[in-house]
Amino acid sequence: MKILIVGGGGREHAIAWKLAQSSRVEKIFCAPGNAGTAQTCTNVPISADDLNALIDFAVKEGVGLTVVGPEAPLVGGIVDLFNKNNLKIFGPSKDAAMLEGSKIFMKEILENAGIPTAMYKTFTSIKSALVYAKGVERWPQVIKADGLAAGKGVLVASDYEEAATWAEKMSQELFGDSGGKWIIEDFIHGEEASYIVVSDGENYAPLATSQDHKRALDGDKGPNTGGMGAYSPAPVITPEVEKKIKKKIIEPLLNEMRLRGMPFKGFLYAGLMISDGEPSVLEFNVRLGDPEAQPILCRYGGDLLDLLEASADGDVSGINPRWEDNAAVCIVMASGGYPGDYEKGHIIEGLNKKAEDVVVFHAGTRLEEGRVVTSGGRVLGVTATAPTIREAAEAAYSRAALIKWKDAFYRKDIAARAIRR
Ligand code: GLY
Repeated sequence: MKILIVGGGGREHAIAWKLAQSSRVEKIFCAPGNAGTAQTCTNVPISADDLNALIDFAVKEGVGLTVVGPEAPLVGGIVDLFNKNNLKIFGPSKDAAMLEGSKIFMKEILENAGIPTAMYKTFTSIKSALVYAKGVERWPQVIKADGLAAGKGVLVASDYEEAATWAEKMSQELFGDSGGKWIIEDFIHGEEASYIVVSDGENYAPLATSQDHKRALDGDKGPNTGGMGAYSPAPVITPEVEKKIKKKIIEPLLNEMRLRGMPFKGFLYAGLMISDGEPSVLEFNVRLGDPEAQPILCRYGGDLLDLLEASADGDVSGINPRWEDNAAVCIVMASGGYPGDYEKGHIIEGLNKKAEDVVVFHAGTRLEEGRVVTSGGRVLGVTATAPTIREAAEAAYSRAALIKWKDAFYRKDIAARAIRR
């Protein structure tokens, strides 16, 4: 079968790497891809947001399954368009993708389904949000811009001044004169973890548990990023906690979506806070996490095509994903300045060195005259598997130390909390 992967980040490289191991896969295209996907796929110069060009390409090449990595094309309705053109595609419909497309919609769904989440208020203007915030006595509070914001739309504010300064700046940046819609919610203490399943709208197959590191700097300091590293499994999700996640969160959510006539198909990603063994939802995403995809897929023992195709065909009940009894750690190497301004075009040295059980996934990279150069904020995801999280982290850090480019940086404490447990 010919596969088209939409996107060009570390998640898409990991999906391509895993799908390339399937005996049923004949050829993989990646649109637009990166220098890493170019090793196993044919990169196609079509942007992930150019839905019509993607349809034309899939028809022309006889693509058997399209797999969408990022949220923007899903929220833009790529699945509905492909289905209308009789093209098989893995992912949620435009309506169902609003779970990530609107945080206010997501909160309403959680409330109706009785799913544990923080108390919140919604606002149709930045002005009314800040009037409310001024009267809040208990800080920190979490301020969220409604709509897609490429990971920049959430702040945990420690007081009113911080909330107001950030929200006024983001309001202009994200929404211009319209000001946008906002949520202010209580901050929940605990440990964050990611729980991702593949659903066919009714049944679901859970993926291995994982944990992300969102802040740019060691010790969870600095600004939020798309994710600076991840590991799997997440020890905070004990078998007991996992049972609660399924019964109190995943199953009620899938049920609510079905009742609303928008059954959820695809990767359903629950961003969770675990407080004293009780999970609650911080956010839902409608795609695989990045960088969580890298450690999760490194531990997947089955054929990823079987799982994704079963969801697209509407029945995952026969699939029981098998996970290696090991651990995986991904260290994200980023361009100096990320998540703010950063330079591009620096030559990356040390990519060709080999290390057993380590895969260097590419994100913001491209080929220039046969050399791999940086082209984004998050550049590489150095991912190692080993019997324990500690050994996987050591192997990933040893490999990362051999890779150099001007101003490269990475966190030195990925998985430290899990190792301490
Ligand atoms: N790693 C966080 C995300 O994918 O949204």
